[in-house]
Amino acid sequence: MTKKVLVLTGGGDCPGLNAVIRGIAKRAKQEKGWQIIGSIEAYNGLLRDPMEIIKLNNKATAGIHVKGGTILKTTNKGNPFDFPTKQGDGSIKTIDRSDDLIEKLNELGVNAVISIGGDGSQRIAQKLFEKGLSIIGVPKTIDNDLSATDFTFGFKTAVQIATDSFDKLVSTAESHHRVMIMEVMGRDAGWIALHTAIAGGAEVCLIPEIPYDINKVVSKINKRYFKGRGFANIVIAEGAKPKDGTIVSQKSDELGYKNVRLGGVAFELSRQLKEAGCKADIRETVLGHIQRGGTPVAFDRILATLFGVKAFELVLERGFGKMVSYLNNEITSVTLKEATESYNAISKDSFILKAARNIGIALGD
Ligand code: F6P
Repeated sequence: MTKKVLVLTGGGDCPGLNAVIRGIAKRAKQEKGWQIIGSIEAYNGLLRDPMEIIKLNNKATAGIHVKGGTILKTTNKGNPFDFPTKQGDGSIKTIDRSDDLIEKLNELGVNAVISIGGDGSQRIAQKLFEKGLSIIGVPKTIDNDLSATDFTFGFKTAVQIATDSFDKLVSTAESHHRVMIMEVMGRDAGWIALHTAIAGGAEVCLIPEIPYDINKVVSKINKRYFKGRGFANIVIAEGAKPKDGTIVSQKSDELGYKNVRLGGVAFELSRQLKEAGCKADIRETVLGHIQRGGTPVAFDRILATLFGVKAFELVLERGFGKMVSYLNNEITSVTLKEATESYNAISKDSFILKAARNIGIALGD
């Protein structure tokens, strides 16, 4: 009898998702009697009536490793334990549809689920595992903020995009004698910002892990601007905030969207700099979702492919309740529980942070 694996992608998209899907499908093809199927838009495809399930055969997955986004589509509004559901009177209530979900998987004859997603998706996977579902996690996020894996795919692509953008801003900063602020993604962790600052050669890098002192930022900028080269470039992570200040965010009115929406801290920093006495002309750029789009760089394609192969091998070994991971240059696995206990922030004692300081990048502290 054919055995089935259902694959889904959840949370924000990320370059490399398609390479994971293709890796799973290709590895499965080497074993007899396995069929790979996919649920559209994370768990939504399963929970819809009629269900939206597609076959992930050769035809569907050929060549997709080069494509950005996800052929399965994704959502960060479809938690099956808290599922937005329309009531008879037209109002929307969130209800627990996890039992329903498991019933539908049984109906389809699914033997295992592979959930490709960030921390939120891995937490849902752990809860489903506790309910008895045979599930494997594959970590993804451009933010690189998942612990238990040294890197997530998508991160290096985001850093490349941010660095290319930074380089462009340097040349215009130099021509106009300006201070350029570039805002990158990074909700809780400043990995994209710090890597970009080092790769691009920023004067200042502000990250969520280190609340900044605006006066220190101004003095660094003034020194560089008026006594140095006459222009300066700042990278700031969207989740950075001043000492005793708050993050720049707005509540989303999208149904089922639980995150606060970040974005716009570059403009706030610009305002604070002027208020604190920065005399230079300042311009702001918010990179936003550009960092998540387009084709993955080679490293991310490779990592994602290896994750896909490993995920299917965990299915064969019945290593359920685990998440594939990349640790010390090895593709391995950890329990979903371990993977979701903490997040990967930049440690104050890390070499990368010290090295950033050593090459003169001010971190606002
Ligand atoms: O979690 C990854 C991330 O890229 C965050 O850095 C960012 O705040 C968020 O996604 C934005 O997601 P959305 O697609 O919901 O706007």
